[in-house]
Amino acid sequence: MSGRVATGGGGPARRRAGALRLRTGSLGDAPTVARVMRAAIRGLGAAPHTGAELRAWSSLPALYHRWAMTVGGERYVVAERDGVVVGYAARRGSELTAVFVLPRAAGGGVGSALVRHAERAARRAGAPRLRVLAALGAVPFYARLGFEPGSAARAPLPGGTALAAVRMEKRLDRDRSSAKDAPEKDRGFRRTDAAPPLVR
Ligand SMILES: CC(C)(COP(=O)(O)OP(=O)(O)OC[C@H]1O[C@@H](n2cnc3c(N)ncnc32)[C@H](O)[C@@H]1OP(=O)(O)O)[C@@H](O)C(=O)NCCC(=O)NCCS
Repeated sequence: MSGRVATGGGGPARRRAGALRLRTGSLGDAPTVARVMRAAIRGLGAAPHTGAELRAWSSLPALYHRWAMTVGGERYVVAERDGVVVGYAARRGSELTAVFVLPRAAGGGVGSALVRHAERAARRAGAPRLRVLAALGAVPFYARLGFEPGSAARAPLPGGTALAAVRMEKRLDRDRSSAKDAPEKDRGFRRTDAAPPLVR
């Protein structure tokens, strides 16, 4: 397991990205996951949200993730490239509770690989659909992956604030052969069967 997380913004000397590896997240990943979440919110989640929302949203500490992984019943999956954590997702049953990608890795298919992984796991667990409370800034991302928008919502945040969000969901039984569900190879994604399965 790697606790390393790249925080830099890339630049001209950035190396060619290696294959993406997804593996089950564990308690030891909590500090890294917290850093990825913070960097993603500050670097990518800004546009439609207020400063107060962003400060509260990015304030969740490693302890929160440890709680989510245990008492909260969430299953975490981390995405690594060249042994460095570049993103993660979390799921509780049929609800996708988090998808965060480092700014330097954004636009490279990491987020969609994590969502597809969650879809497969939820489908294997018998869920007919996957739901997400999507932050406003992420609505186009989920829509691109086949999620349909529902009602507006406010996701509670620390300090009494709330994040502007939209309830979205995707049926899992109708897109097995869709273009978005298949070609992970196009973006250097590699499933690692050595990693523990998400759903046991
Ligand atoms: C949203 C997020 C997870 C996307 O991760 P990513 O690795 O950049 O996504 P991908 O590269 O897999 O993008 C998949 C598709 O969605 C599109 N997309 C991604 N983010 C988008 C955005 N904010 N607006 C519009 N389209 C977006 C991509 O262009 C791509 O489209 P394509 O298939 O036509 O090329 C990432 O930007 C992030 O961490 N954002 C901040 C945190 C956040 O809002 N998380 C969701 C909380 S509910």
